[in-house]
Amino acid sequence: MDDDALVAEQMAYYRAQATAYDRPYAQYQELRDLLEVVDELPIAGDVLELACGTGQWTPRLAARARSVTAVDAAAEVLAIARTRTASSTVRFVEADVFAWQPPRRYDTVFFAFWLSHVPPAAVSTASSRCSTTPGRSPTTSPR
Ligand SMILES: C[S@@+](CC[C@H](N)C(=O)[O-])C[C@H]1O[C@@H](n2cnc3c(N)ncnc32)[C@H](O)[C@@H]1O
Repeated sequence: MDDDALVAEQMAYYRAQATAYDRPYAQYQELRDLLEVVDELPIAGDVLELACGTGQWTPRLAARARSVTAVDAAAEVLAIARTRTASSTVRFVEADVFAWQPPRRYDTVFFAFWLSHVPPAAVSTASSRCSTTPGRSPTTSPR
């Protein structure tokens, strides 16, 4: 399968599974505990969260950041994320991150549970394009 087909397949899957996505977080304490890792990461300034999904990580990022821009391609997961985090410092954007042209660069680029689903080279390129320090990106990523 080529990279474009892989990304398209991922997006179709998450659009269809949006309402089921949070179930493991409700079911497994260790998954909820993992969210606390954000407090140990160098989150600072204006943060870009790629592939935010239903926004499980977004409120924790918002607590550490000046602002959060959270991007996901699936409208269905973003609708859930918006109900989870209502904050004037958080903005949700519906976009394919591989096609999205960031309007600015960000101090921290964060993503979680995304690397294993998409082409690593594409992730690296997308992340570098968005960072204030491309090539030495302050990207943070719990797998
Ligand atoms: C495994 S979920 C992770 C969601 C969230 N980061 C979390 O940890 O709960 C992967 C997410 O990546 C999003 N995604 C996949 N490919 C994408 C792309 N090309 N652009 C934007 N979002 C994408 C999916 O819609 C889905 O919400």
